[in-house]
Amino acid sequence: MTRASLDKKPTDVAAMFDAVAAKYDVTNDVLSLGQARLWRRAAARAVDARPGERVLDLAAGTGTSALPFAEAGAYTVPCDFSLGMLAEGKRRLPWMPYVAGDATRLPFADGVFDAVTISFGLRNVSDVDGALRELLRVTRPRGRVVVCEFSHPTWAPFRTVYEEYLMRALPPVARRVSSSPDAYVYLAESIQEWPAQAGLARRMQDAGWTRVAWRNLTGGVVALHRGFKGA
Ligand SMILES: C[S@@+](CC[C@H](N)C(=O)[O-])C[C@H]1O[C@@H](n2cnc3c(N)ncnc32)[C@H](O)[C@@H]1O
Repeated sequence: MTRASLDKKPTDVAAMFDAVAAKYDVTNDVLSLGQARLWRRAAARAVDARPGERVLDLAAGTGTSALPFAEAGAYTVPCDFSLGMLAEGKRRLPWMPYVAGDATRLPFADGVFDAVTISFGLRNVSDVDGALRELLRVTRPRGRVVVCEFSHPTWAPFRTVYEEYLMRALPPVARRVSSSPDAYVYLAESIQEWPAQAGLARRMQDAGWTRVAWRNLTGGVVALHRGFKGA
């Protein structure tokens, strides 16, 4: 099994990420044409982690997305349900307090984090609304969330070019650089069926997040959604 299907059965999703773990970060850099680093920097600015804060990076994978918060001086917990991704992360960044956990049943008490964030993870979770509610539960009152996720380019001509890249160019490139190219077919399909910016904002509000707003990166290839717990 090298790819999950769009019903996102948790065991299939975890197994798919276990299989790509070793080459996950380098493949990302290649397939995003170097944009992944810019997106990570923008996500880190949006979270704006401060020394002494407690930050949860959910679906953290190997921990690459969690690193900027730790470097900013926050106590950062990378959490993921792929033991393969966590093991690869632990090998590279052994000092990080990796936690194995499922986004829909987080192994944390209520209200313990100042900020919670999820990068390129929410799209893969089987119960997105349940995960958004769990993130809210573990956040302290007036705490914040940042969701960094693929989205939909807003300018129609660019959207057409991008969709061609996703469906036609990405799979052959993935075959050359990834050990599990089928996982990148899933990537393309799951991006296409993911809600657009306003749709995700509505789901965050429905889950209980307030003052939800978003910002597009790379013309909407990625969107950063931010929200708060309470007024
Ligand atoms: C594309 S990777 C993103 C990793 C990292 N955040 C980054 O930006 O590189 C998606 C991650 O989501 C994790 N994931 C998917 N569903 C999950 C769930 N229900 N609970 C915890 N992790 C989940 C996968 O195991 C995988 O490591």
